[in-house]
Amino acid sequence: MEQIAVLTSGGDAPGMNAAIRAVVRMGLHLGCEVYGVRDGYDGLINGKMTALSLRAVGGIIQQGGTVLGSARSAEFREAAGRQKALDELSKRGIEGLIVIGGNGSQAGGNALYEMGFPVMGVASTIDNDLIGSDITIGVDTALNIALEAIDRLKVTAASHRRAFLVEVMGRDCGYLAMMAGIAGGAEAITIPEVETQPEALLATLEAAYARGKTNGLIVVAEGAKHDAEELLRYFRAHQERVGYELRATILGHVQRGGAPGAFDRLLATRLAATATERLYNGEQGALVGQLNGTITSTPYTDVVGRTKSVDLDLFTLADVLAQ
Ligand code: F6P
Repeated sequence: MEQIAVLTSGGDAPGMNAAIRAVVRMGLHLGCEVYGVRDGYDGLINGKMTALSLRAVGGIIQQGGTVLGSARSAEFREAAGRQKALDELSKRGIEGLIVIGGNGSQAGGNALYEMGFPVMGVASTIDNDLIGSDITIGVDTALNIALEAIDRLKVTAASHRRAFLVEVMGRDCGYLAMMAGIAGGAEAITIPEVETQPEALLATLEAAYARGKTNGLIVVAEGAKHDAEELLRYFRAHQERVGYELRATILGHVQRGGAPGAFDRLLATRLAATATERLYNGEQGALVGQLNGTITSTPYTDVVGRTKSVDLDLFTLADVLAQ
């Protein structure tokens, strides 16, 4: 294999740049030419790719986002778009592709693999919902950003005897919300995997107020059945029971935009370097992730179309410790 390409796709995640750097430098070390594809699968379809030098990826390991750009491509979902992408790769003699991204991006990689093109994936999404990696690139940084916000909100909440509903990202997975809630000392956490009634959350706040807690915190996953604004309306309608004055904060993309911490830089570096080596050595159609502390690959057939759930024992523990 003499020429490979790398792209980032889907939602950006802190650590993607460290992964790009590792692909380029490992690829060059192995004697390959490495093409960087602009804007994910859109760029692949439109031939937006250039060979990257060692220096081209200098000074990016500490940057959030992705220097290659990312996009969600509608055209790539069509067979004709995918064929165009393969034509662009073959025009340049590119023989393998590294896909850095989450579920949708790996499904795209699998589609190319099923058309006969060698692809290896690198597990990268703040949602931590990928089968094949206990933790994915970006999760740790996103979690720390959420926690910093929560810690600050608790300070102001305590001054005013308020309760905050804090909504965090995660799409259909409650991982970020659950971990932020546990580490942030939330009174309650609500996630898509477990349906919690607004009345039960209200009762939790009511009890916390009665026990003399100076502030309340409910961490809401964006994919939970009742979102933060809906809960806020419900609680306000029962203000006399809640006690606390109520506020809601939606963290949103703030969580994605941070500079990667040490954990994500190292995880990204190890996953991406391994994926590149394995692609070079002939492996294809698999996602590289970290399982039980080991960097390993899982076949796309076990990864694509499935999502990882949260550890419900931890969810129960959060409830016990919230007292
Ligand atoms: O998959 C990462 C993620 O940040 C999810 O947590 C969120 O639901 C989604 O992307 C937001 O997508 P967009 O950046 O397109 O608004």
